[in-house]
Amino acid sequence: MTEASTACKRLQGKVVIITGGASGIGEGTARLFADHGTRVVVIADIQDELGQSVASSIGLHRCRYIHCDVTDEEQVKSLVDQTVQDYGQLDVMFSNAGILSSSDQTVLELSLSSLDRLFAVNVRGMAICVKHAARAMVDGGVKGCIVCTASVTASIGTIKHTDYVMSKHAVLGLVRSASRQLGEHGIRVNCVSPSALATPLIVEAFQMDGEGIEKAFEPFTTLKGVGFKVNNVADAVLFLASDESAFVTGHNLVVDGGFRPY
Ligand SMILES: NC(=O)c1ccc[n+]([C@@H]2O[C@H](COP(=O)([O-])OP(=O)(O)OC[C@H]3O[C@@H](n4cnc5c(N)ncnc54)[C@H](O)[C@@H]3O)[C@@H](O)[C@H]2O)c1
Repeated sequence: MTEASTACKRLQGKVVIITGGASGIGEGTARLFADHGTRVVVIADIQDELGQSVASSIGLHRCRYIHCDVTDEEQVKSLVDQTVQDYGQLDVMFSNAGILSSSDQTVLELSLSSLDRLFAVNVRGMAICVKHAARAMVDGGVKGCIVCTASVTASIGTIKHTDYVMSKHAVLGLVRSASRQLGEHGIRVNCVSPSALATPLIVEAFQMDGEGIEKAFEPFTTLKGVGFKVNNVADAVLFLASDESAFVTGHNLVVDGGFRPY
């Protein structure tokens, strides 16, 4: 990817936090954002070594890693406070950290302890990040943007991964409600909903390489011969985080190549 020229840098001077920024969609978005002139991209994750190395490879003058487990409200509050203290304000929160179901369970064998663990990250963590980002923006008088990562499974039922599907439906509810509540402060709240793409999350769960994942999902994708890559999602997040979407809020931007599972 080539760095955007100064004229088309779409996030010039913005202070951004990306949760789950050490890998996959978050990492790709961190790289794209940094190339669009952000003052700083703060990568927040629990994979410290990986997060540090992604930040170093982007450049420590424009990217920084902070350890943050999104399930822990104190850690999220401290991440946001530290960012505002060091860079003056928070303009964009990309709340993206998420995990997949630990098994293929249907509702018949649903493990509630697994569901609780997954909800702690995908639902509770997402809500905590939206809450503290919004508070910092309201307190700082910043008309900021919050983007969450939902999924195509936020709008459909599936034959397995019940807890994951439930958790992504909840993200949609959070985005829709928060967008209505924060509109009076000029804060926009939206989400992106990708279909399956080869990130470590999916590669590990399906035990297939990137090519295998693409082949497995191609029959369900309307667009043929176009590989689905992290950059496709990052481009959508950039749109939602930039002024190009200045009048868009409460929106679920589906990025799925026309995914039709049935
Ligand atoms: N890859 C897909 O096919 C796909 C499709 C739809 C939605 N999503 C969603 O995209 C988001 C990013 O996933 P990805 O595919 O890039 O996977 P990934 O595993 O590559 O990245 C997820 C990142 O989140 C981090 N993370 C996990 N738990 C955390 C916690 N408690 N606190 C902070 N960070 C934590 C991980 O360490 C990892 O770096 C997730 O919300 C996922 O549900 C992915």
